[in-house]
Amino acid sequence: MQPQTRPNALAQRDLLGIDGISPGDVTTILDLSESYVALNRNAQKKSDVLRGRTLILLFFETSTRTRTSFELAGKRLGADVINISVASSAIKKGETLIDTAMTLNAMHPDVIVVRHPDAGAVRLLANHVNCAVINAGDGSHEHPTQALLDALTIRRHKGRLDGLRVAICGDILHSRVARSNILLLSMMGSQVRLVAPSTLVPPAIERLGAEVFHDMRQGLEECDIIMMLRLQAERMQGTFVPSTREYFRYFGLDEAKLAMARPDALILHPGPMNRGVEIDSSVADDITRSAILIQVELGLAVRQACLDLLGREPETA
Ligand code: NCD
Repeated sequence: MQPQTRPNALAQRDLLGIDGISPGDVTTILDLSESYVALNRNAQKKSDVLRGRTLILLFFETSTRTRTSFELAGKRLGADVINISVASSAIKKGETLIDTAMTLNAMHPDVIVVRHPDAGAVRLLANHVNCAVINAGDGSHEHPTQALLDALTIRRHKGRLDGLRVAICGDILHSRVARSNILLLSMMGSQVRLVAPSTLVPPAIERLGAEVFHDMRQGLEECDIIMMLRLQAERMQGTFVPSTREYFRYFGLDEAKLAMARPDALILHPGPMNRGVEIDSSVADDITRSAILIQVELGLAVRQACLDLLGREPETA
């Protein structure tokens, strides 16, 4: 009998970015995520689709929700999960990323999830291993599972992704979340707006199909979705905003600016939030408007779906 891949498995081995996957892949991942949302709400949350498989989490940057949710996702699917953080890795002893990749590869893992401060580092690692690789964030480049969980959150609240007006606001320049979201949402038919001071907008970003606004009130007009981003000081070299107080005044989401959006506009934030810098607590904590904790719940399901699709043993016919 010929081994066959499951009918809904993704065509590619890795998930390195939204750049490279199709609208059909996005729908496959989101649809499978829905079944994990339901499973996670049961008392018995475990499945065994990855039993006997090995998942390595390799994080060269700090992370709370992304690392925890990949770990929990792997465990809920029955995989053996190994955590490696930069503090404990041989990179500290001068080993190169490629040597680390080849060392881990020799242990026959089935999936490696990687977060790294440099754009392109996850693809480089993927080129030196035989298993599936998932990008959990590479520099300011891509963070595909974040965009997928944002899309699932939007689809569950609005019933669709096409025809929505989405404002992504804040530090677009340093944000891999923004980049993956612009690619995914435009591909799925949303109209994407970017709202930020000119110092925090990458040059020629309009080429990705987004419209840029430097006035937040204008940018938020009639929006269905408002996605707020953190000022990513750790990626900044130099000064990009005069002060966080002034930044909040012009680009922080508060009740007054929110009133410009549609009355049923949904607020998203990938976390970690800086309250009083990009978002006011009264808005962030308003559960009738903000889906920030729902994003965390759905993020787990999206990571289960991605691990399921990329980490399973191909079924035989
Ligand atoms: C984001 C990241 O790491 O890119 N966080 C996350 O994955 N939840 C955004 C950020 O750090 O601000």
